[in-house]
Amino acid sequence: MKMQLVVEAPAKINLTLNVIGKRADGYHELESVMQQISLRDKIFLQTGGLGISVASSSDQIPDNEENLAFQAAHLLYSKYSLPSGLQIFIEKNIPVGAGLAGGSTDAAAVIQGINELFDLRLTQAEMMQLGLVVGSDVPFCVLGGAALARGRGEMLTPLPAGPRLEMVLVKPEYQLSTREIYRDFRLERVRQVPDNVAFLEAWRQCDMIGTVAEMKNVLEIVSIEKCPEIQLIKNKLDDLGAQGTLMSGSGPSVVGVFTSREKARIAWDIIKDQYRESYLVSSYNRGD
Ligand code: C5P
Repeated sequence: MKMQLVVEAPAKINLTLNVIGKRADGYHELESVMQQISLRDKIFLQTGGLGISVASSSDQIPDNEENLAFQAAHLLYSKYSLPSGLQIFIEKNIPVGAGLAGGSTDAAAVIQGINELFDLRLTQAEMMQLGLVVGSDVPFCVLGGAALARGRGEMLTPLPAGPRLEMVLVKPEYQLSTREIYRDFRLERVRQVPDNVAFLEAWRQCDMIGTVAEMKNVLEIVSIEKCPEIQLIKNKLDDLGAQGTLMSGSGPSVVGVFTSREKARIAWDIIKDQYRESYLVSSYNRGD
């Protein structure tokens, strides 16, 4: 049995997000292309002692059972008889409450880490199934890379790597609750529905311009109403030469996609003076 392990936990963005309808269980039926990005947390796991503890470099995430990383560990401990306790330390680099699956990716990393530390030999599908108990985005975070997600977000079709996306990611000084954004979503107010067929055609041809033209998120209008800064950031990124911009998940993070790393860097250099939480990121694929 290993004693310690460091697991990387990349953030996720949605390149398309369509809501098909509301389900009887309260969740919404989705169709969304998800992509991991280079911005990531680092999870330090150390076995020993009694029980599970969680600590982090950030004062914005809970250090108790509310933390999704804790919940993931607790789930595995309640299912398998593991011989010793676990200390979890989260080096938090992903903005919190941002629509970037920051909590979910930490949970996915803990599941994968425990599997390795205790040699549980769980398959990827088993880890994804366990992850869904913790949150809708956790299965994708276990899978990694890019995928088309349906259902609650857990019915995943892995996608081959698409065009490399060089992006500036900006998070306004505002957090949004995913639950509230979905609660206030109204199907009849949707104007621009993503065309995932067209998106995937451009994607498979690694046509960056075509891919960016098809990026749409039906939750944007709901989130912009609560946080108008999202629209201002989109306009600013457009002015700085972005090929396209999109809010991620339920927001409020926004990405601007640029035609080269250099162009993204120039825009980032300017926007980071206005927005403290601005990052230069690129798409992150399985095996990166
Ligand atoms: O699954 P998770 O706990 O991450 O979801 C947070 C909230 O987002 C849910 O309680 C639900 O209100 C909303 N949600 C939804 N439909 C989805 C995913 C999330 O309505 N497919």
